[in-house]
Amino acid sequence: MTEFTAEDSDPSFEWGVSTAAYQTEGAFQEDGKGLSIWDEFANRSGKTYNNQNGNQACDFYHRYPEDLSIIQQLDIPNFRFSIAWSRVLPQGIGTPNQAGIDFYDRLIDGCLERDIEPWVTLYHWDLPLALHQRGGWTNRDIVSWFVEYVELTVGRFKDRVANWMVLNEPMVFTGAGYFLGIHAPGKRGMKNFSAAVHHAALCQAEGGRVIRDLHSTAQVGTTFSCALVESASPSRQDVRAAQRVDALLNRLFIEPSLGRGYPIDQFPALSRLQKYMKPNDEDLLKFDFDFIGLQCYTREVIRYSWSMPYIFARQVSPQKREVPTTLMGWEVYADSIYHVLRNFHRRYHLKNIIITENGAAFSDSVREGKIDDYDRQQYLSSHIQACLRAKQEGVPLHGYFAWTLTDNFEWAEGYRPTFGLVHINFQTQKRIIKQSGRWYAKLIQHHLVPPNSRNMDI
Ligand code: BGC
Repeated sequence: MTEFTAEDSDPSFEWGVSTAAYQTEGAFQEDGKGLSIWDEFANRSGKTYNNQNGNQACDFYHRYPEDLSIIQQLDIPNFRFSIAWSRVLPQGIGTPNQAGIDFYDRLIDGCLERDIEPWVTLYHWDLPLALHQRGGWTNRDIVSWFVEYVELTVGRFKDRVANWMVLNEPMVFTGAGYFLGIHAPGKRGMKNFSAAVHHAALCQAEGGRVIRDLHSTAQVGTTFSCALVESASPSRQDVRAAQRVDALLNRLFIEPSLGRGYPIDQFPALSRLQKYMKPNDEDLLKFDFDFIGLQCYTREVIRYSWSMPYIFARQVSPQKREVPTTLMGWEVYADSIYHVLRNFHRRYHLKNIIITENGAAFSDSVREGKIDDYDRQQYLSSHIQACLRAKQEGVPLHGYFAWTLTDNFEWAEGYRPTFGLVHINFQTQKRIIKQSGRWYAKLIQHHLVPPNSRNMDI
């Protein structure tokens, strides 16, 4: 087991754990909830691993008191979860569903009763199906639909929720859902992608404005997926290919919010977004977030490829590079999160960064009622060390949230990759806290940090 050292850690640092509605709640048709694009997609044949779906997931809708008590038992002070849009507004707009609102009321109250600070993500990929049927993210009307949803939820919960995140990883839900078709709603192509990107970027800023108008003391954030992108060789072609991937993965959504527009210089194919822009949109894309949530799991090594349309780049797989990976096939490379933090700080001079997700899927085995997941603990330890190193070097990093509380529905990958600090037997819904969960609790409780965070080579 990793030893701890009692360093002078920052007592105001926000330690937490993150989850998302579709991956955990289940109860997909209960108490008046409307369907979302994920309810539809995951129940279509052949779209997910073994045709698994989130219909029941972790049954968090019914078992949230038990899960909140686990968070309390582990003394994790902050809990990030998302609101399912179609639970509070079954058709996406129009008549709210009181039972859905009541659920989030109970959940938020349940956090506060246990001294857990709620951090709410407004959109973690589960668009109401009724809105998808009207074009969803490809229809510019989504900006007004989203405003209606944000006004309802923030208006209702602002008395108890101070920390809000507008979108979760817009690059992933537009890229996987509207370009590659491997996530809901299964759309493909540059046209769908370009429209979805621009409308998501508008909602990102507009959502921020609505929260700030309704709740002037709120901490308003949003989250981005990001990765260290390196070129496979120093050749000009590979370096350029890596720049295009970097523009897509790390710059596409943050730069318009900062008033820099889309990173078309680095990735010219993004000029297609301009078709969806109206006069004044550059201003509408801007919003000064109180914090930026970064979510980093791995690094990408990139080489030029003529066969990949638009991007002309391809990942050199971790398997080919013979480096250690997680169950997702993602390289384990803790320095990625360190460089991502440094790069975002250097490029954008952000005032407040929070790692809103980081974690790993490894296979777990239950032995005598225990799970000794040393590999996950090592992953978390090395990544937390890398984060703290960046912080010590001046990056304004103010929090770290582990992904995730319990094993859950990992989108197209189903229940196979387990990221939780807590194991779930999905037949019985019985929870067992893993060794990594106990380790994380100890790290937080004693204001301790893993060793070597000060003296690692850069
Ligand atoms: C998402 C989570 C997901 C995690 C691991 C992030 O992209 O926000 O919903 O489960 O990564 O893949």
